[in-house]
Amino acid sequence: MKDIKTIEFKEDTLYLIDQRKLPATCEYFQCKNYRDVDFAIADMVVRGAPAIGAAAAYGVVLAAKEFLKEDREQFFKKLDEALQVLNESRPTAVNLMWAINRMRKVIDKNKDLPLEAIYEKIKEEADTIYKEDVETNKRIAQYGNELIKDGDRILTHCNTGALATVQYGTALGVIREAHYSGKNIFVYADETRPRLQGAKLTAWELMQEGIPFKLISDSAAATLIRDGKVDLIIVGADRIASNGDTANKIGTFMLSVVAKAYNVPFYIAAPTSTIDYDIKSGEEIVIEERSSEEITHINGIRIAPEGVEVYNPAFDVTPYENITGLITEKGVFPPNKLPLP
Ligand code: MRU
Repeated sequence: MKDIKTIEFKEDTLYLIDQRKLPATCEYFQCKNYRDVDFAIADMVVRGAPAIGAAAAYGVVLAAKEFLKEDREQFFKKLDEALQVLNESRPTAVNLMWAINRMRKVIDKNKDLPLEAIYEKIKEEADTIYKEDVETNKRIAQYGNELIKDGDRILTHCNTGALATVQYGTALGVIREAHYSGKNIFVYADETRPRLQGAKLTAWELMQEGIPFKLISDSAAATLIRDGKVDLIIVGADRIASNGDTANKIGTFMLSVVAKAYNVPFYIAAPTSTIDYDIKSGEEIVIEERSSEEITHINGIRIAPEGVEVYNPAFDVTPYENITGLITEKGVFPPNKLPLP
């Protein structure tokens, strides 16, 4: 397996593969402070729910380091401001708020220690989130692989691979695992308009791994499903409500409707950190709307008329009734019977 280091923290710098530039070049974007991390998340240098969470945790590490020179009162005040900024860098993927919440708890628990010692605890927690993500993804991959048969043709949407996590991936991790366990699988990767995570990122990862696949336009998926060319669909998630309703990349809902119409199993692969136990249903999920340029331009070139009005939601919500199962690090669950927190 290719070792893709999406995120790396060394010598007080957070290195992120600049996913805006893939597949043309594989360059690292350097975050020297938490504002750089805020920018990197908002501008999608780093993207994918688990990767955003891990990057934000290191954003807190950078903030704590920066404010060590302050007195205690200012240290906590400025750190709190940084936590808020990072928490709001993108609204939908709950792994971001989950990671910030974990960092906040560590700060609160250790607030009476010397500032240097608090910094060490913060760094330890970010490293733990980082390591846990790799272990979690491996477990998701193993549980998911049990659902895959030799010869299966799997359709996936967006990028849920090593680039969307610390390593290995969630839905794409399951696909990796099936391939490496010797199953003869074939993948259909949706291009994923408008940001083209499928064309730019998933295709890049699948090619590096030598996993047989074809890239398709999002609108080709329904025909493939109707024609019996897809055995199962596996996608990731950005936020799962308590009732199993799942927010994922725009286009996922449409895919789930077609899958249901043609009895094709539709799985979500995600860590339990993507479950938002505080919300009852998908109606409460905030769906990010991104800039109109993502629709009117491709690689900086205008493709739509000047002045056109645009609606550009980055995610949609798939109702739990359309989901066959949720593959997590704790096992596979029916969407309306999620594991307890
Ligand atoms: O806008 P993005 O690229 O951050 O959206 C990513 C997705 O929707 C992924 O499918 C999801 O985060 C799961 S990643 C393991």
